[in-house]
Amino acid sequence: MATVTSTVTVNAAFLQEIKEDNRRLQELLGQLRLAFGRHSEPADPLWIADALDELRDQLATHFALEDAYGYFDDPVDAAPRFAHLADELRREHSDLYLEASHLADAANEKLRQEDWLAHWRGLRERFWRFDAQLKRHESRENRLILEALEEDIGVGD
Ligand SMILES: [Fe+2]
Repeated sequence: MATVTSTVTVNAAFLQEIKEDNRRLQELLGQLRLAFGRHSEPADPLWIADALDELRDQLATHFALEDAYGYFDDPVDAAPRFAHLADELRREHSDLYLEASHLADAANEKLRQEDWLAHWRGLRERFWRFDAQLKRHESRENRLILEALEEDIGVGD
């Protein structure tokens, strides 16, 4: 007996557009990478705490847009070879958002204390770990978009 399972697929054109339009997120990530630079002096801790709050909020919007318009459940198995990856990438959004929230909470707790410098190294490492996860997610998503566009199977109506 055949079972009907919903298949996650992508609207590649929308997903690409969401990424290209999100300039504030890219700007913020660029500023945070500089502020957490391995060779730079610790930047203004209060600015970093605020910036990580904004990063969490930007990511919430970004992932919500991607979930709503970039991915969709298609009961017809239109692109089976993309389905597993699409499902995995969509599910990564909640883990990435959770870590961005924890990072912002930790920064707000530690960087507003007098001895913030004692926590600097730990927060910096945590930021770079998060940044690597996010970069990996984004580059896999970009690859999925390109492959879907190439096969012209990713654009749903
Ligand atoms: Fe994503």
